[in-house]
Amino acid sequence: MKRNKILGTTVLLAAVLVVSASAEEAKEGVKAPAKAPAAHYLGVAKCKTCHNTAKSGMQYTKWTESKHSKAFALLATPEALEIAKKKGIADPQKSADCLKCHVTGYGEPTENFEATFKPEDGVQCETCHGAGSNYFKMATMKAVRAGTTDRDKVGLLIPTKKTCDKCHNAEGTGGKEVDWSADSTKIAHPIPKAAG
Ligand code: HEC
Ligand code: HEC
Ligand code: HEC
Ligand code: HEC
Repeated sequence: MKRNKILGTTVLLAAVLVVSASAEEAKEGVKAPAKAPAAHYLGVAKCKTCHNTAKSGMQYTKWTESKHSKAFALLATPEALEIAKKKGIADPQKSADCLKCHVTGYGEPTENFEATFKPEDGVQCETCHGAGSNYFKMATMKAVRAGTTDRDKVGLLIPTKKTCDKCHNAEGTGGKEVDWSADSTKIAHPIPKAAG
């Protein structure tokens, strides 16, 4: 990530840079260049500890009910095997050509993933909100929400349509971009007004 460029610019631009950097890494299969310690992916169980109460808005349960949580498992279905076969791919769950859109953080260096992270969880929180190691602590989360800590500094992304475009595009299985208003509503998991 081009940190110094991200700081002081908009969240939207930050999301674009992050997405294009990781897409490039996935394509080239290269490790990220030397830079400030990268944020690590923690896995969805960590987010669940605080984001699964009525007061928080049940984000974890809503995610388990969304198709994103099944994105990796889906690659073992007869339908997926059929799509893969046409491209000469034997096992979609082991192929970069499928994993790059069906798991979280695909192509990033292994040291960026904590032991608690599970690729089987498919497209989870950190796909859209960024790797969690620099923002998951209660004090940080509250400060970000209150606006006293800069989101960009701790790597917490508020997704825009560009976040979705990384996978929902012409190359993707569905072959089309998301309809932001309709599709973000389908996966919505807001913090209830009283708690926010
Ligand atoms: C220790 C508890 C805790 C953990 C763990 C945690 N959060 Fe939070 N998060 C909060 C609290 C508290 C808020 C503030 C909103 C509220 O009071 O419900 C918040 C807010 C957020 C927001 C909204 C920020 C904003 O500015 O509107 C996002 C997005 C978020 N969390 C994502 C995540 C993700 C993704 C993970 C896992 C990597 C995670 N959180 C882990 C407690 C936590
Ligand atoms: C560029 C990103 C991308 C790549 C690469 C990708 N997929 Fe997908 N895949 C998606 C998206 C996005 C959806 C959801 C489509 C929708 O509902 O619009 C999806 C959905 C699917 C579905 C559900 C059926 C459907 O048509 O919606 C299957 C099965 C599937 N993918 C298999 C695969 C296999 C097998 C590969 C590797 C050969 C692969 N995908 C590669 C993005 C991708
Ligand atoms: C496919 C992408 C995606 C995934 C996966 C995802 N989110 Fe979100 N999240 C969004 C979008 C889009 C928004 C709304 C952004 C906005 O308000 O413009 C959002 C908003 C939030 C908010 C703030 C809600 C508010 O009312 O301000 C929290 C908290 C949050 N997500 C937590 C999570 C947690 C925890 C997970 C995993 C269990 C998760 N998200 C998974 C895309 C995602
Ligand atoms: C890392 C890749 C990736 C990203 C980023 C992503 N998606 Fe998805 N999305 C998928 C895949 C793969 C599926 C298909 C999963 C399945 O069918 O099990 C999917 C399915 C969906 C579906 C379900 C479609 C249906 O037929 O019900 C919706 C809605 C959706 N995504 C919305 C979004 C939105 C909105 C964003 C951005 C905030 C987003 N996605 C970001 C990969 C992604």
